[in-house]
Amino acid sequence: YNISSETVSESCPSNIALIKYWGKYKDQIPANPSISYTLNHCKTNTTIEFLANEVFSVQTFLSGNEEVKFAEKIEKYFKNIEQYLPWILKGKYIIKTENTFPHSSGIASSASGFGAIAKCMMKLDETFSGKDSDEVSLQKASFLARLGSGSACRSLYSGLVVWGESDEVEGSSDLFAVKYSDDEIHSVFKDFNDWVLLIHEGVKSVSSTVGHGLMNTNPYAERRFQEARENFVPMKEILKSGDMKAFIKLVEHEALTLHAMMMMSDPAFILMKKGTLEVINKIWDFRRETELPLFFTLDAGANVHLLFPNDGSEEKIKTFIENELLQHTQKNGVVKDVMSF
Ligand code: PMV
Repeated sequence: YNISSETVSESCPSNIALIKYWGKYKDQIPANPSISYTLNHCKTNTTIEFLANEVFSVQTFLSGNEEVKFAEKIEKYFKNIEQYLPWILKGKYIIKTENTFPHSSGIASSASGFGAIAKCMMKLDETFSGKDSDEVSLQKASFLARLGSGSACRSLYSGLVVWGESDEVEGSSDLFAVKYSDDEIHSVFKDFNDWVLLIHEGVKSVSSTVGHGLMNTNPYAERRFQEARENFVPMKEILKSGDMKAFIKLVEHEALTLHAMMMMSDPAFILMKKGTLEVINKIWDFRRETELPLFFTLDAGANVHLLFPNDGSEEKIKTFIENELLQHTQKNGVVKDVMSF
């Protein structure tokens, strides 16, 4: 290694899981495979200034404000990945990062954040030790991102992305994410909306780290992990055939199961709020009345991700959202994104 002071910048989007990752083993090995959509617009932009041969330290700024807690997290992360990047502790870091979406909006900023940092670290590594092929470089970045935040490893690829070994997905791995082949996806799933209703912007009562940990003692965990693995069988069929009804049923089931696991944990916790349930019921009423393909998924938080395809029905759906669902959010809060590929 021939290290030198460098400044690198990278950008990485967030993602939203359809089959959820919830529960993990040592070294960030997921208890079950997951599949997600990578968002097009909700991104983290990160610049890392590396000052070679100074005493190791990390300083982080989020939208210009210094964040000491975040810096501590990154220091720990860098120490953890030193085995893969031997030069990493031989300098000082100034990390400037900003999200293109509201902070604590429940859009996974850890996914885009660690994705962007991992890409920056790969860029530094390639400056010092020579360039890999794009494919290898992305896979390494996904591997490194996983060690920061599990779901982050899926943000390195566009479209639909799988993380965790599944018999249904060739090349899938617990160590990094792989792109789900665009050829295996019906066109109706290639132009989708994800509108995130900001039901509650406060800090979550239970972090996802603690939530994953509580799966270790959850008596339903093994069945859940098995179910997620099994769900790849219909998911693969659905993605190929374009069966929207079955897609909706499976995706909503996955979201509710994630939250059911939280309620079954000891101690139990609930991240949904009143508005979350009101919105879910309104979506179900709307679907019963109109049969239009508006449905939801949830992350580990109260906010509701509204999913609907651009299939000609989207104007009616958007009107319904604006008239009936925004009232359940804080300050008419909605973040509009798309997944088109
Ligand atoms: O990446 P983590 O450890 O923050 O876990 C996130 C897990 C969920 O967002 C709830 C589900 C998923 O698969 O993204």
